Amino acid sequence: MTSYALLGWVLLGLLLQFDCILAWQDYKDYKVYELQPHDDSQLQLIRKWAQEHPDWDLLGSRRSHNDKGLRVLVAPNQAESLLKQLRAHRIEHQLLSDDLSLLVKAQREDNQRNKARFTLPLIDVLGAFYTHAEINEYLDSLPQRYPQRALVKHFGWSYERRPLKVLTITNGDGRANKPVIFIDAAMHAREWIAPSFALYIIQQLLDNYAENADLLKDYDWVIMPVVNADGYEFSHTDSRYWRKTRKPTWDPENIGTDLNRNFGYMWGLEDGASPDPSNETYQGEHAFDQPESQVVRDILLHYSDRLTFYLSLHSYGNYLLLPWGHTSSLPPNFDEMMQVADAGAMAILYATNGIYSYGSGYHLMYATSGDSTDYAVGVANVSVAITMELPAGGFMGFDPWVSHIEDIVTESWVGVRAMALEVIKLYQTEAQTNVN
Ligand SMILES: *[C@@H]1O[C@H](CO)[C@@H](O)[C@H](O)[C@H]1NC(C)=O
Ligand SMILES: *[C@@H]1O[C@H](CO)[C@@H](O)[C@H](O)[C@H]1NC(C)=O
Ligand SMILES: [Zn+2]
Repeated sequence: MTSYALLGWVLLGLLLQFDCILAWQDYKDYKVYELQPHDDSQLQLIRKWAQEHPDWDLLGSRRSHNDKGLRVLVAPNQAESLLKQLRAHRIEHQLLSDDLSLLVKAQREDNQRNKARFTLPLIDVLGAFYTHAEINEYLDSLPQRYPQRALVKHFGWSYERRPLKVLTITNGDGRANKPVIFIDAAMHAREWIAPSFALYIIQQLLDNYAENADLLKDYDWVIMPVVNADGYEFSHTDSRYWRKTRKPTWDPENIGTDLNRNFGYMWGLEDGASPDPSNETYQGEHAFDQPESQVVRDILLHYSDRLTFYLSLHSYGNYLLLPWGHTSSLPPNFDEMMQVADAGAMAILYATNGIYSYGSGYHLMYATSGDSTDYAVGVANVSVAITMELPAGGFMGFDPWVSHIEDIVTESWVGVRAMALEVIKLYQTEAQTNVN
C-alpha cells in the first residue's frame, strides 16, 4: 500500500468517526424535566408556556396512561428561563436527563450491536430497528421467497428520490379483486416502532401463514412500512426525534412538512394544523405538495373500490383514533368503526392488560386537519379508517429500546388481528359467502 493510499484510509477512518461524533452531538446538553402539576391551573399554565415558547418541547402531554407526568425537552440555553418559571409558580419538577445526546448515543450503539448479527436481505424484526434502505432490500427479497403470494410495487419517489415501495400479500389462490386491507407506517419519522410493527405484520402473514390463513382467505393486504422515507432516514443518521419530511419550505430556516396534515380533505383548517413552517404540525403550502402524501393518496384511490380497512400506524399513546379529526361531528359509519376499534382494544386488554382508548380523534386527542384517515373516509370512501398510536417506549415515548420491540409488536398484533377479523365479519359480501 502506498503511503498516499494509507493516508486516504486514515482520513476516511477519521471522517467516518467524525460523522458518528457529529450524529452524537444531536441533542447535546438538551435537558429533559418531568413536571408534576398539582392542579388544573398549573397544567393550563404549562400548556400555555408550550405555546408561547416553541423551544420548550412539551412531551407526553398525558398522552399515555402510563405517563407519570409531563415531560419538557429544552435546549441548553433555554433551561434557565424554564427553571425560573417553574420556581416562580411553584411547579414541582425533576431533572430527568442533563444531556439527552447520551441516551441517543447509547440507543444508536445498542441498535448497531444488535444489527451486526444479521445479514440482509433476511432480517430479524424483533432484533433491531432497520433503515429505509434495509427495509426496501428486505421487501425486494420477498417475491423470490413467496412468488405466488408477495408482490412489490414501486409507487413513487420521496423528495430525496428514495423509492417508495408497497408490498401486496395474498394467499396465492389467484382470485382477483378481493377486498383490501391497507396498512401504512412512519408517516412521522421518529416513530420507529411503527415500521417495525409493519414488518412484523408482514412476517405474520407470510412466514406464519398457517396461523393467519383466515385473514387472507377473502382479503388481500397491502403494506407500506415507511411512508416518510427521507425523514425516517434522517432520524437514523442525524436527528433521532425528527418528525416531518425533508423537503424545504418557503422559509429557509425550516425544513419539512407534517405529512399527516398534508392530505387534501378539509386541509388547512385553522384549528388542526399550522401554516407556520417552524411548527411541528406544518401543513405544507398546498394539500399534497409532498411526494410522500401523494403516494399514500394514490394507493388509497387506486384501491378505493376494494378498500375496506385502512390502518395508519403511529406512536405513541395507546389510542385508536377514528375520523373525523377536523370536526366534532362523526362520520356516517362511525358505529361500525367503533365496533372494529372495540374488538381490537378488548383483544389487547384480555391478552396483556394493555389499555387503549378509542373514539374520534377530535374528541380523544385534538383537532387535526388534513390527516390521512379523514381523507381515506372523506374522499376515498374507505369503510373503516383508524390511526393506531402504538404504546410508548424508552425515554421520550418514541424511542423504545430494541429489547422492547417484541412486547410491543406481539401485543399490537393481537389487536390488529382482532380488528381485521371484525372488519371481515362486518363487511362479508354476497360474493364471499357464495364462494364458501
Ligand atoms: C402549532 O400549531 C398548532 C395548530 O395550529 C397550534 O395549536 C400550536 O400552538 C402550534 N405550536 C406552537 C409551538 O406554536
Ligand atoms: C366516493 O363516493 C362518492 C359518493 O357515492 C362518489 O361520488 C365518489 O366518486 C367516490 N369516490 C371514489 C374515489 O370512488
Ligand atoms: Zn405520528
